[in-house]
This record gives sequence, C-alpha cells and structure tokens, in this order.
Amino acid sequence: MAPGMTYPILRRAKVVRTPTAREAAETACRLIVERVTAKPDLVLGLATGRSQLDVYRGLVAAHRAGDVSFARACSFNLDEYIGLPPSHPASFHAYMNKNFFDLVDLPSDRSRVPDGLANDPNEEARCYEMSITEAGGIDLQLLGIGVNGHIGFNEPGSSETAGTRVATLSAATRSANQRDFADGEAVPEQAITMGIATILAAREIVMVATGLAKRDAVRRALDRKVSSDCPASFLQHHPFVTLICDAEAFPD
Ligand code: GLP
Repeated sequence: MAPGMTYPILRRAKVVRTPTAREAAETACRLIVERVTAKPDLVLGLATGRSQLDVYRGLVAAHRAGDVSFARACSFNLDEYIGLPPSHPASFHAYMNKNFFDLVDLPSDRSRVPDGLANDPNEEARCYEMSITEAGGIDLQLLGIGVNGHIGFNEPGSSETAGTRVATLSAATRSANQRDFADGEAVPEQAITMGIATILAAREIVMVATGLAKRDAVRRALDRKVSSDCPASFLQHHPFVTLICDAEAFPD
C-alpha cells in the first residue's frame, strides 16, 4: 500500500495511511480546519491521549496563523475520570486546557468536558448526553483508540446501544494510562464516557491511530467480525468514518 493514500476499506470506513505519526496528525488537523471553515458553528467531539497531541498543536498553529477560528464552534469531550478535578494534571480537563482550550478562541462556556467531581456521576452522564442533543448533535467526532480497542472509555464488552454513562476501566487501560499519573498514584477505576451510541450518532468520525502499540487494535477494528470484544469495530456501522493511521499502526 502506498503511503499517504486513501483506501476504501471494509464496508464504509475509509483508511488514510501516512508514513509518520506527525503526518497522520497533520491530515486530521487539515480535515478539522476544513470542516470548521465550512461550518463555523460546528459541534466538535474531542478526544484526549498522546495520539491527539499533534492534532491540537496543528489546530493551535492554524488558529495563530489566522487560518481558523473556533469562536462560533462548541465542543464536547469524550470522557473524564471520576474523582479528578480539572486542576489534576492527569485529568482530561487539564489536558484540554493545556493543549487546546487555553490556546484558541473556543468560548469556555461552550467547551464541555464531563464533570469528574459531580456528586451524582450517573446524573452528570445523563445531563451530558442531553446537552449534546440540545446542541444539535455532534458534527465531527475526533477519536483515538486504546490498545484493547476501546473508544472513549468504552471498554471491551460495551454495548453498541449505550449512551453517555459511568464506565469501569479495564486493567489494561488503567495500566496503559498509569504513565499520566505520579509514581504510586492510582489511576481512577471509573470514568464518565460518551457511549458507543453517542459516538455513532456523530455525523462524521475521524479516528487517529499511530504507533506499533495500536496495530492489533486497528486490525481488529477493521476486521469483518464486528464485536464488542473490540468496541472500535462498531465504527464499521457508521456511514462516514475516516481512520487516519501511520505506517506502524497500519502496516503494508
Ligand atoms: C484514553 C482515552 C481514549 C484514548 C486512549 C488512547 O484511554 N480514554 O479516548 O483514545 O486513551 O490514548 P493514547 O493516544 O495516549 O494512546
């Protein structure tokens, strides 16, 4: 397969393979800028994780160059750990503030992350789902993928019909995410996450997967067997998905 080309893949998903992770992020960034330019009041679904860092760097650079404004857009993040305040460096809220929200013109009252400190996390999840609906639904959902095929915090075994809810993290995910926490500090056991149904309701989905560690998850996501064993495989049921991979995640 030639690098940088677009491949029609199983069912309706399309894969764009780039030589490097940097180029994968640049491709995602260009796509997002294009969509926000075409629809300035775009409702964005946002993701965290290392795979997204260069996407945000690119978006911030494009904003600084005057190529894109988020002033009329709004955003909903996929997930947040239960028990972590936005001031905790490993919280997804802190990640978003540091890498995106504080650096662009997206209004703070229109950039939402689930509240990890809500008194009633189940109620917070219900309200979050309702806010997405009230905003008119997500136009463009950015996604990463976990080493076990999770999307958001929808771990293996998650139902395709689940909405935003409280989810228990798998041992594999907690161990993969330990790197974001201080030595000896436990990764929270639960999170509030958009459900698979919430994600599939987005009008367009862009997944960025880079690095060798994601190769198996990507292969299973594209497998003919759609199964909750690999929650990302449910994306095959969506009509408009672009999977952007580097050569390590999607080999020849
Ligand atoms: C976390 C997030 C996911 C993200 C995944 C992969 O578990 N909940 O939304 O896709 O990490 O992150 P990374 O890109 O750091 O590998």
